[in-house]
Amino acid sequence: MGELYVICQNGEIDDGQASGFSLMRIESTGEPKPWHILITRKGNQFFGFENACPHMGERLDANPGEFLDEEGNFLTCGHHGAQFDLDTGECFIGPCQGKKLTPITIVVDDGDVCLTGVELAEEDEFDDSEGAPEVMITSD
Ligand code: FES
Repeated sequence: MGELYVICQNGEIDDGQASGFSLMRIESTGEPKPWHILITRKGNQFFGFENACPHMGERLDANPGEFLDEEGNFLTCGHHGAQFDLDTGECFIGPCQGKKLTPITIVVDDGDVCLTGVELAEEDEFDDSEGAPEVMITSD
């Protein structure tokens, strides 16, 4: 198993809830790229998905008020209303019915919800200012 990256504590997401996280993933080219994920919880189990709707690739939580139903049974994409199971990520109604959110591997380790199977950038690897040449103002 690859490196574990702690995303949150298991107590931060209640049963029937979901949270979105914005990370930086190292692509196969070696470049860091923004990567949006969702962690959902059903009972004591946690599930991870890329936060990209299979319909048009948009983030599901564009409309946070409609993102989760009151009973915590499904996620709703804020763009065209596709609805997904919290645990399987399968779209059961909507324009991408039958398709699934892309799963990511979640491991719960001693109360930490972690993801693995990817390489994330260290924070200083995506600092915009890094690598920028220092500007020196000189006067002749
Ligand atoms: S982009 Fe999600 S339903 Fe259209």
